[in-house]
Amino acid sequence: MSKTTTFTMIKPDAVKNNFTGKIIDHILNAGFTIKAMKFMWLTPQQAGSFYAIHKERPFYNDLVEFMTSGPIVAAILEKENAVEDFRKTIGATDPQKAEAGTIRNLYAKNIDANAMHGSDSDENAQIESGFFFSQFEKY
Ligand code: RTP
Ligand code: MG
Repeated sequence: MSKTTTFTMIKPDAVKNNFTGKIIDHILNAGFTIKAMKFMWLTPQQAGSFYAIHKERPFYNDLVEFMTSGPIVAAILEKENAVEDFRKTIGATDPQKAEAGTIRNLYAKNIDANAMHGSDSDENAQIESGFFFSQFEKY
């Protein structure tokens, strides 16, 4: 199987709780290679467009507020079957339901502050990677 990429963010709660190092280690141990990475603080406009697909959902405003509450770490990761495998590595959206040993199970508190983002399809992985990184920032 050929390698594909996914896009991820370590969310503000995990960065604030000093889990960045442990989470990057977890990702590398799970077999992903880092192709791009940066530390940044999203503006409400950036977070709003990133999650625009959820614009009509009741949790949208809280989500944008949370994602702009502190810095995040954005990254592009490569592996065979990257999108699906990374969703397994991070666990269910609600950390209470996330399988033992997944990143959300280990490092997240609740469904709003759930430590990680992972793309949900190859198409969205490309769109999200392009939203954050230029071609000169991927190796
Ligand atoms: P993400 O996009 O952040 O990786 O999370 P996800 O795919 O697992 O979940 P998604 O459905 O895309 O939702 C995006 C974020 O919105 C919050 N959410 N809250 N209260 C709720 O029912 C609810 N549903 C989703 C979560 O913080 C989720 O990560
Ligand atoms: Mg999602």
